[in-house]
Amino acid sequence: MLFGPHETNLARRRAIADRHVAYYARRAAGGAGVVVTETASVHDSDHPYERAPLAADCPDGWAAVARACRPHGTLVLAGLGHAGGQGSSAHGQRALWAPSRVPDVASREVPTAMEPPEIDALVAGFAAAARLAADAGLDGVEVDAGQHALLRQFLSGLTNHRTDEHADGLPLLRRVLDAARSALGPDRVLGLRLCCDELAPWAGITPATAAGVIAAVADRIDYVVPVRGSALSTGATRPDLHTPPGFNRGLCAGGPVPVVLQGSVVDPAMAQAALDGGGYDLVEMTRAQIAEPDLVAHVRAGTPERIRPCTLSNQRSTVRDPRNPVVSDEAEPGAGHETLDPPLAGRDPVSRDVLVVGGGPAGLEAARVLALRGHRVRLVERAPVLGGALRWAAAVHGRERMGLLVPWWERELARLGVDVVTGVEVAVGDLGADTVLATGGRDGPVGYPADGPVIPAAAFLAGAPLPPGPVVVRDPVGDAVGVGIAEGLALAGRAVALVTPDPVAGTGLARTGDLAPANARLERAGVARERLSLLRAVRDGHAVLEHVWTGARRTVACAVVVDCGHRLPDDALARARPDLPRAGDCVAPRTVSEAVLEGRRAALRLVGAEGCSRTSARARATEPRC
Ligand SMILES: Cc1cc2nc3c(=O)[nH]c(=O)nc-3n(C[C@H](O)[C@H](O)[C@H](O)COP(=O)(O)O)c2cc1C
Ligand code: SF4
Repeated sequence: MLFGPHETNLARRRAIADRHVAYYARRAAGGAGVVVTETASVHDSDHPYERAPLAADCPDGWAAVARACRPHGTLVLAGLGHAGGQGSSAHGQRALWAPSRVPDVASREVPTAMEPPEIDALVAGFAAAARLAADAGLDGVEVDAGQHALLRQFLSGLTNHRTDEHADGLPLLRRVLDAARSALGPDRVLGLRLCCDELAPWAGITPATAAGVIAAVADRIDYVVPVRGSALSTGATRPDLHTPPGFNRGLCAGGPVPVVLQGSVVDPAMAQAALDGGGYDLVEMTRAQIAEPDLVAHVRAGTPERIRPCTLSNQRSTVRDPRNPVVSDEAEPGAGHETLDPPLAGRDPVSRDVLVVGGGPAGLEAARVLALRGHRVRLVERAPVLGGALRWAAAVHGRERMGLLVPWWERELARLGVDVVTGVEVAVGDLGADTVLATGGRDGPVGYPADGPVIPAAAFLAGAPLPPGPVVVRDPVGDAVGVGIAEGLALAGRAVALVTPDPVAGTGLARTGDLAPANARLERAGVARERLSLLRAVRDGHAVLEHVWTGARRTVACAVVVDCGHRLPDDALARARPDLPRAGDCVAPRTVSEAVLEGRRAALRLVGAEGCSRTSARARATEPRC
């Protein structure tokens, strides 16, 4: 079971940091067999993102990771690479290196075509980095020729237009692998992460050409990880929940060298099947182990039902967005913050009777944490079922996997003996001192006159019927809800207009990698995207739209509006009892990850464990940049 190389933003400058060590050690303690550390640049011509590790700065950190993981029997390999033309000159402040002068499709920047001295420096960089990794006590290295890699750019007709001896990228890959092998010696592991399908068969790497590459380097490597996607489709390496789990099964399986199955493997049974005659020798479960550090331990213990599911939402495990966050998980906010959060399972000396009001993600997590710490917990939810906003978030078309989390909390609360009561409204007089408020959100006001029906998104997703006729979906938020509702209605045969104030639909989906795929799905489904538009009124079977820049007005047919506007806190109890800790949407309606984090914090604050020390003075003093 492999924990693959991924950007974390946990580095200090460009060095593997104490936060990395704790992050990897936590997965090793949970049973990960192989940890591949965040890909380190092998040469200082490469600085693809602010906190991208640089191999020359990593030996101390690598050594610390090895010391922390080895007691658990885990192999630690250094991820080594160079992003080439897919890097960023914003940090390196010099031209990007690439095989040819082909502008990258994302940055649109023209790179410089590498000359022989630069190619020699690249090979020497891989050798030097491998030597540093070996000297630091690591068990080997994994060379990156995947979706963000200069070595892949040399192997691909999309990016390699050379006519010299490097017109074929294979000899360079062989040189790099030979240099790394001689630096490592025969006893350490040399792995290769290889793009085996660029999804651009007119010039790119295909599964057939990749099989030839694997055969040509098989005698030099100990394993290969076939991945999909490249410059034209970087998201294909870790797509979100719209792509089925295990989508790479069969890709270059059963070759002449041990093969690792990669690609949205989140179910241990699928992993086991891949090993049991599926043509694979190892399985990578990266996001699954971000979400559940104890994944392997639970499988070994025969308690797979306790594994916190990875929904494949990409909501918190994507780090390259304008906010520059550290890696984390939507339902395990401790992921990426291991040095800052105390262990949750410590039992408090005095067991208290605690009431949690609200059974959405904030209340569920608060109840779980309180019960883990030995308290007697009663959770009361006014709806007939648990889940709150998460229940209807999972009803959005294409986002059914979000529905995996509520049953996980239900199983955990049952196991921990929490007394769960549904269908009961709590009154102010019922609130004692030991109470956590997690009462969720409510619909916001409709800010436009309407003489026809306007149905809030929550009501629609809870099953409210729509009258026949054309639907206008108003989406001032730009997240998955409006886009998914519009897509689902269009696929069900409705005429749908999605009204957004932004230049593209679903702007917030850039954070999860779904922005372009979502717009493609809307286009295919026939949704009219009314961009740069505000909904001003609904009258006489039409919606009046106003252009946000020009103010020009126009109308579109409208029998009903599904309104996906911002919600407001449902804070009646909180206003009556401002002394009580509160969490989630009743503080401010946001996403599941804020709700879970605040549920955890509120629980720990209530029992004096002053929980997530991310808010503590110690954290601020020791982690001033976080
Ligand atoms: C936050 C994050 C950052 C990643 N960064 C990289 C990267 O820099 N290079 C790379 O080859 N793969 C990267 N990956 C891909 C992972 O190594 C892994 O192959 C991918 O997540 C698919 O495995 P999974 O479906 O089990 O998560 C990243 C994945 C995540 C979640
Ligand atoms: S944020 Fe979503 S995709 Fe990422 S690890 Fe967590 S559950 Fe999986």
